[in-house]
Amino acid sequence: MKNLSKKIICIVGTRPEAIKMAPVILALHEQPWAEVKVLVTAQHRGMLDQILREFSIIPDFDLNVMQPNQSLSALTGRLLIDLEKVLKAEMPDVVLAQGDTTTVLAAAMTCFYAGIAFGHVEAGLRTGDMHTPFPEEFNRVVVGKLAKWHFTPTPLSAQNLLVEGTPESQIHITGNTVIDALQYIAAQDSLRPEEYERKVILVTAHRRENFGEAFRNICTAIRTLAIRNLNVDVIFPVHPNPNVKATAHELLSGIQNISLIEPLGYREFIHTMNRCHLILSDSGGVQEEAPALGKPVLVLRSSTERPEAVEAGCVRLVGNNTENIIKETELLLNDSQAYRKMAKGTSPYGDGNAASRIIAILQEHLS
Ligand code: UD1
Ligand code: UDP
Repeated sequence: MKNLSKKIICIVGTRPEAIKMAPVILALHEQPWAEVKVLVTAQHRGMLDQILREFSIIPDFDLNVMQPNQSLSALTGRLLIDLEKVLKAEMPDVVLAQGDTTTVLAAAMTCFYAGIAFGHVEAGLRTGDMHTPFPEEFNRVVVGKLAKWHFTPTPLSAQNLLVEGTPESQIHITGNTVIDALQYIAAQDSLRPEEYERKVILVTAHRRENFGEAFRNICTAIRTLAIRNLNVDVIFPVHPNPNVKATAHELLSGIQNISLIEPLGYREFIHTMNRCHLILSDSGGVQEEAPALGKPVLVLRSSTERPEAVEAGCVRLVGNNTENIIKETELLLNDSQAYRKMAKGTSPYGDGNAASRIIAILQEHLS
């Protein structure tokens, strides 16, 4: 059996990649035909390690590339050089990576140069605007040109690839592995349905295109909401990117009903999402998880590559204008009918079996 096995290297760099690749990695470890290795670039350090611990994933290779306030070019350069050393020495049959970070771009490029087949998990997401989100739209467009297998979360993401000329035979609609990860947590801990005693607004933010004035506008909206609604609490696990952290602490510290806290572990974050009243976020993963938990999300962006939940009515784009964020949030706080319409709890992103579909497709194609 051993000499028939296929070597698969799973590459992860940041928190969301670890969460979304964990179900694939754990399920691949169960496959007798697969020799699985996990390579972490550690584009994120602390937040990545937090998630790896929660899913009991021990990396085989750790590139440890993160540097404080890293620039995109310097990060890409370090990744390309370090990834090549490992991948050329290992020459796996397949490399798998998820999403649209710089780690994924560099992984796909390194595989292309080295002639290694690349499978893209969460393929086909598009806004159609190269600058939003920045640089992620660019990353996924390039990765879309380089991948051999495109595992898309929804029919719409498959359609995006077809429009770009990707052969249909290379596109596989699997659902999003984030729902698998969510169900993994839900199966271990029973998620309590009750909300916190006081209404909680959960906030996350980290997008590069929002840095500067847009993020200041967002923080000003949160500040005003907290001061005007003293019966409401704001919980904000602050992303460690210095561009986020400095502004969040400058504008939101010292307000009694705002808690600025360290990033939460995945398990604790899911519990917090499940018990909060509504979410303000520019995160991709949160737009997918919250609908599955029946929590409305106001997205702090003007476009999204995840329009399915907007169409389903669970997610609304509110942009980064201070007045608009306040207006839309207070509508949900004060109008129970408007709130109920959004808190519908339908998940357009899958049924929790995405990882097993991805593995079945790989097994069929590799055998
Ligand atoms: C990155 C991804 C983004 C993804 C996000 C998830 C790119 C270009 N960006 O954005 O697509 O949505 O991760 O969170 O790939 N830092 C720490 N500790 C950590 C993580 C980050 O201190 O555990 C700080 C460091 O100073 C680091 C900075 O944050 O240099 C930026 O990290 P980076 O991965 O470049 O960008 P993110 O904004 O985290
Ligand atoms: N998340 C977490 N702890 C937190 C905030 C978020 O575990 O304090 C999880 C969240 O459940 C989701 C993922 O991190 O699965 C989203 O990561 P992020 O917003 O950093 O990146 P994006 O999804 O926008 O790429």
